[in-house]
Amino acid sequence: MKLKRVLKWSARAILLALILAFLVGFIAYWRSTNDCDRDTGAPANPMKAIVHCEYGSPDVLTLVNVEKPTPADKQVLVRVRAASVNPLDLTIRGPWLIRPILGMRKPKDTRLGVDYAGTVEAVGKNPAAAGQFKPGDEVFGAKNGALAEYVCVLADRAVVLKPPNITFEQAASVPVAAITALQGLRDKGKIQSGQKVLINGASGGVGTFAVQIAKSFGTEVTGVCSTRNVDLVRSIGADHVIDYTKEDFTKTDQRYDLIFDLVGNHSFSERRRILNPTGICVMAGIGGAGWHDGIGTRLAGELKAYVASRFVSEKFITYIATLNKADLQILGDLMQAGKVTPVIDRTYK
Ligand SMILES: NC(=O)c1ccc[n+]([C@@H]2O[C@H](COP(=O)([O-])OP(=O)(O)OC[C@H]3O[C@@H](n4cnc5c(N)ncnc54)[C@H](OP(=O)(O)O)[C@@H]3O)[C@@H](O)[C@H]2O)c1
Repeated sequence: MKLKRVLKWSARAILLALILAFLVGFIAYWRSTNDCDRDTGAPANPMKAIVHCEYGSPDVLTLVNVEKPTPADKQVLVRVRAASVNPLDLTIRGPWLIRPILGMRKPKDTRLGVDYAGTVEAVGKNPAAAGQFKPGDEVFGAKNGALAEYVCVLADRAVVLKPPNITFEQAASVPVAAITALQGLRDKGKIQSGQKVLINGASGGVGTFAVQIAKSFGTEVTGVCSTRNVDLVRSIGADHVIDYTKEDFTKTDQRYDLIFDLVGNHSFSERRRILNPTGICVMAGIGGAGWHDGIGTRLAGELKAYVASRFVSEKFITYIATLNKADLQILGDLMQAGKVTPVIDRTYK
């Protein structure tokens, strides 16, 4: 009798919580707005930027005039010479899972892009507060809204001098992808010289950096990619290349100390089988940009692997990269030393 009453009240509480959540979501959806809805008049000091007032396909992107930023104390104004796009920029499609953060009905932040390279045009009123930077310096870094003529960035954040042997286009391809590779291998994968490392998705934006960074740690690297990219992955230093259209890397006799997985298309047990008993699988991504078959299955598989690995000696770890100055500097040094060279697939003007 008592149990029946508890169940009845629990059902009522759950129903009430669901109605409340629906109401809050409904109100948040209709209240969601952005600066496209405000008539702020023509910018006094205009610059061009790519914006998206709505969620949707790349058709929602427009090139418009916005206010050119002015550097405050501790800030530098950078004239963007090149910017790159990442799977991260797919937020223009407004995935429902993250709309509570991005804006329910419309994107709160209408600007796009993160990675850039360019020239310092000005610093704030107090030049000493701009750290190492002065007008004319060539820099690269990460800042929201990088698909624009200018970005204004804090001097102590993710911005560093561009090595002279690297072009603006190459430098602009570095921040998100290379920091993801560096932090995944070094911080999560605990990479050590002499280890055997496998990189699944070795030919992509993150993978091409991962191959070179793993080599710079003195490891033996196996890259997995499709037929058309085999020569590319070998040319950036991979010791072995597996063409996934011809061979399944989980079905060989080889064992690895570290798997850096950017695709997530193999199960926990398949990957565990090719790991050494103290090996680590860093689950960094679920394949390239755009909607592709099996995204849901891959996400569920990675979650399952994370939980299952709590009960075995091999570790399966996931993470979100964080952009910072120290790691960008490490990457700048690796590029200057010729140990890492960005691979550019396509450029657009
Ligand atoms: N954890 C983080 O903080 C973080 C940060 C940035 C990115 N990511 C994630 O990392 C992933 C990769 O990003 P990206 O910028 O490198 O993407 P990308 O440039 O589009 O590269 C995707 C790669 O996946 C490869 N691939 C596709 N199907 C494959 C398969 N069946 N087996 C092996 N490789 C396969 C492709 O190789 P082929 O072209 O040779 O087929 C391509 O090299 C994405 O899921 C992204 O969301 C995570």
